[in-house]
Amino acid sequence: MKLMLTKDYDELSKCGADLIMAQINAKQDSVLGLATGSSPLGCYQELIQRCQNNLVTFKYVSSLNLDEYIGLSPEHQQSYRYFMNHHFFNQININQNHTYLPNGVHPNLEQACIEYETKIDQVGPPDIQILGIGANGHIGFNEPGSSFSSYTHIVKLAHSTRQANARFFRSIDEVPTHAITMGISSILKSKKIILMASGQQKAEAIKRLLDGEKNEQFPASSLFDHPDVTLIVDKEAYELVE
Ligand code: F6R
Repeated sequence: MKLMLTKDYDELSKCGADLIMAQINAKQDSVLGLATGSSPLGCYQELIQRCQNNLVTFKYVSSLNLDEYIGLSPEHQQSYRYFMNHHFFNQININQNHTYLPNGVHPNLEQACIEYETKIDQVGPPDIQILGIGANGHIGFNEPGSSFSSYTHIVKLAHSTRQANARFFRSIDEVPTHAITMGISSILKSKKIILMASGQQKAEAIKRLLDGEKNEQFPASSLFDHPDVTLIVDKEAYELVE
């Protein structure tokens, strides 16, 4: 696992954008594995600017997102499809027909999981996967206790995760209770992985990750099974590491 330590979120976002841009410039039809949430947002903003300045093109790029809430349609402002369109896809020259997320409103959700895993194999696996990390060590929506051999599946969200995400809703009652997520084994199919962590609220998780113990109670520790992981961490998120 490589570690890139940055002074703040801004520098972390630029480092992430550098890695994604280098990937696309080396292979124009790269497949990106994407995440939602605060961690990659600055990186997406940076990539939007670079795309507008013709430093990178998304014309031939495809993407596969990690997860989607169950019960929120693509038009719902808190759905991950809406998040991705609004914060990234609508502002770059990507072909939106080549951007994929799990279908959280599929009439048969088990079938939706099978279809998404098939999509990962058909389109991907991603050349590069972006991850954030939950304070409890989740990656995607693989909560503590998730099997390291899981593929795309339905999860019940931990109360702490719903609490953390309630900031985007009017109240915690509106936060969906379930989601579809790539499993740990789906995530580990990616050729390269970048995990971004910023701020004090991630410091415990980063300390625990760098302690190096592999344990299903701490999903991010599954990344030790992958040969090409880069951790981009800012000073605040690193502050509990000796
Ligand atoms: C998002 C996702 C989650 C987030 C994690 C951190 O698609 O899969 O695992 O990456 O909850 O969220 P932020 O970045 O908002 O702190």
